[in-house]
Amino acid sequence: MNLLNIDQLDEDSLRRVLDRSRHWLDVNRQRERPSPGPLDGRIVLNLFYENSTRTLMSFETAAHRLGADVMSLPVAHSSVKKGETLEDTGRTLNAMRPDVLVIRHPENGAPARIADVLDCPVINAGDGTNQHPTQALLDAATLMSRFGRIEGLKIAICGDIKHSRVARSNAELLPRLGAEVRLAGPPSLMPDDVATCGSVDEAVAGADVVMMLRVQRERMEDDLGDAPGEYLERYGLTRERLRKAAPHVAVMHPGPMNRGVEIADDVADNKDRSLIWLQVEMGVAVRMACLELLAGTRD
Ligand code: CP
Repeated sequence: MNLLNIDQLDEDSLRRVLDRSRHWLDVNRQRERPSPGPLDGRIVLNLFYENSTRTLMSFETAAHRLGADVMSLPVAHSSVKKGETLEDTGRTLNAMRPDVLVIRHPENGAPARIADVLDCPVINAGDGTNQHPTQALLDAATLMSRFGRIEGLKIAICGDIKHSRVARSNAELLPRLGAEVRLAGPPSLMPDDVATCGSVDEAVAGADVVMMLRVQRERMEDDLGDAPGEYLERYGLTRERLRKAAPHVAVMHPGPMNRGVEIADDVADNKDRSLIWLQVEMGVAVRMACLELLAGTRD
């Protein structure tokens, strides 16, 4: 079993990951390492072709907490730089007999390509603009922790939808769990195949949750050409714009944040509203649950 796209998880697996995340959140908070651990003697390989702080470190933390041995290939110093193909890198690592491989890659579909040459489970840690399934799972787990439910929540996902694998995975997962998802952003950052719900102001109006997305300038052919402060004023989450949301609104962001661009400092740092650091914490718990689920399918 692989976890390449969020829609691959059937109802049972989805519920199991969300349920087990609650348990692993407590274990991680206690800084415990259960003995025996569910992944004792297993090897988890991380293969990140793109930069990461949260996803890479939380997969490493999760694997260590479960008792696995973890290795992360420093891609920039590897034979990838000598021109080795993705598939040959996969075959090379496969010959070392890992138990789980976690991959992040700038090309859509790269995790599926490497999964074809590996005989262990593969987890997609983000591919291009396509999917980031464990981010969607941790976002769902964070919402469950805050609201006790996802059913009926109005969730505005705003910003650079076009380049966001987080938006794609969440737009598939959250409606499955009963949420109303509203996507909005600058017209030039809305993909053609996604229905917008109008302006960012309209999306935020009455929302229970506002999830802001990073402006991914590294994936743009032409820069937005916005003046300093212009994006924040027109599309970003300011205190004034947040007042249009429900009084109990929660603010999310997958990180890393462009402070002062898609989100104002005082919104990001509002301890009553912001779930941003809980999202990071939940990332470890959810990835523990995913590793437990997938490593258990190896045999
Ligand atoms: N949310 C997320 O994927 O963050 P990183 O790029 O730091 O892993």
